[in-house]
Order: sequence, then structure tokens, then C-alpha cells
Amino acid sequence: MSFRIQSTVFPVAGLGTRFLPATKVSPKEMLPIVNKPLIQYAVEEALSAGAERLIFITSPSKRAIEQHFQANVELESALSDSGNKKMLALVQNIVPSNVECVFVQQGAPLGLGHAVLCARAAVGEAPFFVHLADDLIRSDTPCLEQMRQYYERYHSSVLAIEAVPNDRTANYGIVSVKKEPSGARRVDKIVEKPKPEEAPSNLAVVGRYLLTPAIFEQLEEGSPGAGGEIQLTDGIAGILEHESVHALLFEGTRYDCGSRLGYLKATVEYGLHNEEVGERFRKYLKGLTNKM
Ligand code: G1P
Repeated sequence: MSFRIQSTVFPVAGLGTRFLPATKVSPKEMLPIVNKPLIQYAVEEALSAGAERLIFITSPSKRAIEQHFQANVELESALSDSGNKKMLALVQNIVPSNVECVFVQQGAPLGLGHAVLCARAAVGEAPFFVHLADDLIRSDTPCLEQMRQYYERYHSSVLAIEAVPNDRTANYGIVSVKKEPSGARRVDKIVEKPKPEEAPSNLAVVGRYLLTPAIFEQLEEGSPGAGGEIQLTDGIAGILEHESVHALLFEGTRYDCGSRLGYLKATVEYGLHNEEVGERFRKYLKGLTNKM
């Protein structure tokens, strides 16, 4: 890995209303897919792309996320006393010791752009990743690593994109792109949640961004956009006037775990690939589909 992206920002202050009552007390990022919470998948993806500073933009009601990445002395001594080495290793090695976890409180829910701006001091003057944990991506090469490799080539901000059905554009940041001679896609327009008739294309930004620090100036100066929130999309639109931004059609499958259907699909797929229960689960599902 010749160029390392040090920091990953995880905006986790959102309310998760679509999963109530499950998310009344427990943060949506703590919803498990098989036996791991969404936020741990997110952190593992960032670590495998070389990140060494994990910056969580959180709120006081999301203490469970912080606790998940801290030692649980009581649990560890119980596992150690009962000789359960496997589980002990699982809870002790969530984050390697050289990795720094930073928790920043987002004072008010003012939008994704505002959450990213809250990370400014912790990120410093270097390119960084933004990872939205409810977009879970299964791929051979982790999506953030695909983006890091892209950065190594083009030295610009990179947005992960995928084509979505035309009637779904109002759920996403939508880009239009121009193909460069190298085959790379350069973003020439980005709009937050346009209606289908106003969308510049059906290419949607998913929850992975590699951004240069130029974004902070844009977010600082920006005024509230769609939904009255400070939108990351608008900040990126601002960068476009000074820097090039690329879009990457990543390799892999995305599960929108912010929706009930996406969450169920992810649970089934990850269940099928699970070492311990995958085979038995496959047999069970086959039996079930025969009855349907
Ligand atoms: C956010 C962004 C949007 C992006 C989406 C990806 O929207 O504002 O541009 O396409 O994440 O998941 P949200 O899903 O938070 O409404």
C-alpha cells in the first residue's frame, strides 16, 4: 500500500426511525448481521483499506457504539475464567492497538455535511474516507480499498456509485459523469435526491466517499440544502468548481441496511456465507422455498 488514507469518518448520530422500536435504545449501527453489528463491518472495511484513525460522529444517545470499541473488563474476565479463548479473542481484537478511535459529538442533527464538518479537527489536512454504515457492501476487494487504489491513480476525491432504477433517484445523491480517455469517470454534476424527471442520470452515490480536505471549506461556507440540512452533496458540488472528482462503479453488492428489505437481504446473504451455520441455513432455505 503506497498511499495510506489515515482517517475514516463514520457519521453515526442519526436516529434510525425506520427500525423502531428496535432502535429506541440501541443505535441502528448496532443492528447485527448474523453476529456482528453493522458498525463493526464498517470499521473492518476501513481497517482493511489501511485506515488508522476511526472518527465517529456521534450523539449522547449513541453510547453503545463507543462502548463496543472499548474493553469490557467484566466480560473479558468471565470469558477468560471459563477458558473461552475463541470468544475472548473475538471481543478483544475488534480494533488493533495501533488504531486510534475518536468520538466527536454532533451537537445537533444538522445533516450529513454538518457531521463531516464536525470531523475537521480530527482529520486535519489530508484526504479521508467517509463511510455510512447502513450501506453494507460485500465484495472481493473492500470498497474503500478499491477507492484508495483509485485515488493513488487520479489524486482526486472519489465517490462510490451504482446505477439505481429511475424511480429511486429521490433517495440518493445523483451524479452525471464524463468518461476520460483513461476510462475513468469524472463527475460533472451532483444533485441531492432529485425527482426522476429532474435527475441528471440514474447513477447514485452510495455510502462511501474519499474526499480531499477542500470539502471542509465548502461545508463551512455552505447553506442548508435539501430537507433544510447541510448536505455533503452540496459540498461536493462546490469542490467540483475547483478540483476534479471521480466516480467509481465499485465491484461488489450493496445492501441498503437502512431499509427493512435491504437489511433482510443482507442477513440472508451473510447467513449463507457464514462458516458456522451457512450450510445448514442453505438447506433450511431450500426446504422453505419448496413450500412456497
Ligand atoms: C445520504 C446522502 C446521499 C447518498 C446516500 C447513500 O443520504 O445524502 O447523497 O446517496 O446517503 O446511502 P441518506 O441515505 O442519509 O438520506
